Amino acid sequence: MLDHEKNKLIERMRQLIQVLAQHNHAYYVMDQPSISDHEYDQIFHQLKDLEQQYPAYVQADTPTQKVGGKALSKFVTVQHAVPMLSLGNVFKQEDLFAFARRVEERLPQQNIQYDVELKLDGLAISLWYEKGVLVKGVTRGDGETGEDITQNVKTIRNLPKVLTTKNFVPELLEVRGEVLMPKSGFEKLNVYNESVGEKTFANPRNAAAGSLRQLDPTIAASRPLAFYAYGIAQCEPMHELDSMHESLHWLTTFGFEIAERQFLCDSISEVQEKYEQIQQERDELSVEIDGMVIKVDSLKQQKQLGFLSREPRWATAYKFPAVAALTKVEQIDWQVGRTGALTPVARLQPVTVGGVEVSNVTLHNIGEIQKLDVRVGDTVSVYRAGDVIPKVERVWHDLRIDKLTKVNLPSQCPVCDSPVVMPEGEALARCSGGLFCAAQRIEAIRHFVSRKAMDIEGLGDRWVESLLHLELLKDVSDIYQLYLHREQLLSIEKMGEKSVQNLIDAIEQSKKTTLARFIYALGIRGVGETTARMLASHFQGLDAIRCANVEELQKVPDVGEITAEWIIDFFQAQHNIEVIDRLMTVGLVWDVPTASTTQPLNGQSWVLTGTLSELNREQATQMLQALGARVSGSVSSKTKCLVAGEKAGSKLDKAQKLGIDILSEQEFIVLMNSYGQSSNT
Ligand code: IVH
Repeated sequence: MLDHEKNKLIERMRQLIQVLAQHNHAYYVMDQPSISDHEYDQIFHQLKDLEQQYPAYVQADTPTQKVGGKALSKFVTVQHAVPMLSLGNVFKQEDLFAFARRVEERLPQQNIQYDVELKLDGLAISLWYEKGVLVKGVTRGDGETGEDITQNVKTIRNLPKVLTTKNFVPELLEVRGEVLMPKSGFEKLNVYNESVGEKTFANPRNAAAGSLRQLDPTIAASRPLAFYAYGIAQCEPMHELDSMHESLHWLTTFGFEIAERQFLCDSISEVQEKYEQIQQERDELSVEIDGMVIKVDSLKQQKQLGFLSREPRWATAYKFPAVAALTKVEQIDWQVGRTGALTPVARLQPVTVGGVEVSNVTLHNIGEIQKLDVRVGDTVSVYRAGDVIPKVERVWHDLRIDKLTKVNLPSQCPVCDSPVVMPEGEALARCSGGLFCAAQRIEAIRHFVSRKAMDIEGLGDRWVESLLHLELLKDVSDIYQLYLHREQLLSIEKMGEKSVQNLIDAIEQSKKTTLARFIYALGIRGVGETTARMLASHFQGLDAIRCANVEELQKVPDVGEITAEWIIDFFQAQHNIEVIDRLMTVGLVWDVPTASTTQPLNGQSWVLTGTLSELNREQATQMLQALGARVSGSVSSKTKCLVAGEKAGSKLDKAQKLGIDILSEQEFIVLMNSYGQSSNT
């Protein structure tokens, strides 16, 4: 190893050791944990991996050497008579329900109850009792073979060494369960270890594992370990129990302890309730858990369900979401949206957070990057709660070694090289390339063909992608040239004569449209459906809009100064003009909209609320819009009228308070009819 590589390696090891020591101190001495156990473990393992790779440079004060690390091979290896299998995992309700559906499908017409247990976060072991005497304790190992830890197991205080019962004692009983260090014992151990300068443990699980793996049984004896039973692997002669919950109760009659909570549920939704309840009560429990274990309660049904490879079909773990996980930023890319907005996305070394693999996370905007000071190469904590989008919660600046380069806003669009602009006071930077930019183009095409725009039914995402791939769609105007490429269209996989013809017909039909739809379809920033309609009815033609200045545009009720400027920007960009000119040559026709002055409800703001029974929302909206009104989602003093359907709530209250006109659905229909509008027109 070169000198500078060696220095860097040592620097890295020292850094990890220091971070671990700081957090140990925060956790054990100050009682103010600054990171999660999971994060601690990850840093710990980073250090351990480095040490394994470069044993010559292991630092004297490394926390990895204080416990364990003894020659585990000295434990005798034992073959499990009944393999110790693992459990499948689910992380969210829909997956739990899918588990239940799979169970129910295999047990049609049967009544199914679920035994719901705590998923104890310790180490699985197996205990052998011959004629009621504990003779062997074995770790899970790889599930097929484990290690004989009988001497250590015998020191566990809450575990019966001899089965005491008034009833029969089996010839052979093999009990499975979890060895843990209860939270209180764990805390005391750490306080003690700290006071005598011994290693403190990151969490009860590590403490339990470290204790069981000691070759000297006096060490395990000095540790506050506990055993909780959760199953029977063998019993001779066979017991006469019918269910999981009875088995656990039966084990308690021999002196075994079982976990402090257990539920018998009649339905999977009840299981979900218990899961949520325990998540709330998690901190009050005496032991650490990382989820729940859901088991089909009937032993007969368990037998019927059997196993799928190495997991039982009759049980699953329902894990709690991980709070945060540590990973590295490998790259920061800038994505370009339809309106040209540039969004930074951190590409991460894939990491599992709450059961889902995360490899990308949005950093929102350049301001967020600056706030976090995140750089390529940084170690970050990624947080994800339930279904919420993952986010970077924290950047580990003190784990930086190399001089990492600050992230700057690119000056050119990563897709089309056009200049990137960031108007003052705005959070988002944008590509100025408009429809010339390929990234904006695909989004622009999707928008152009969408239902409320040109409504080209059938030109779905699959088509768009294939067409872009064949370079048949450079911009939206190319849509109207597709009929010239029938052969190429037919070459697209799964596109037969019929679908190609349907597409060509749909494109042809879309040529007859309205000015409002066309303006909306152009995807001008700030111009939604309503604004497009108002622009159309105010200016009565495309050329008038193209030539309008800021003042003229602002005369349209919906257009403020900023939107006016965006409209002007759009029509000034050369590539947009070219696309529009091409579109003008393909034979689009639109009705001249009713002049604004002739519209009876021109400029009025209406609100629809509650359930309408004769009309649907869209019909009511269309009628109002045809008469020049705009339909808004909220009531304000500017609202002209509220149409209140069944079960109208807060909007109705507010309208009443503000003294705004209120119409029932029937009154509304009568009014619309008087203007010549009906739901059929
Ligand atoms: S039953 C056939 N019940 O979870 C598998 N396991 O991923 C039977 N665990 O290694 C396992 N609490 O260490 C079962 N109440 C419980 C459990 C539990 C924790 C652990 C066990 C096993 C792992 C499976």
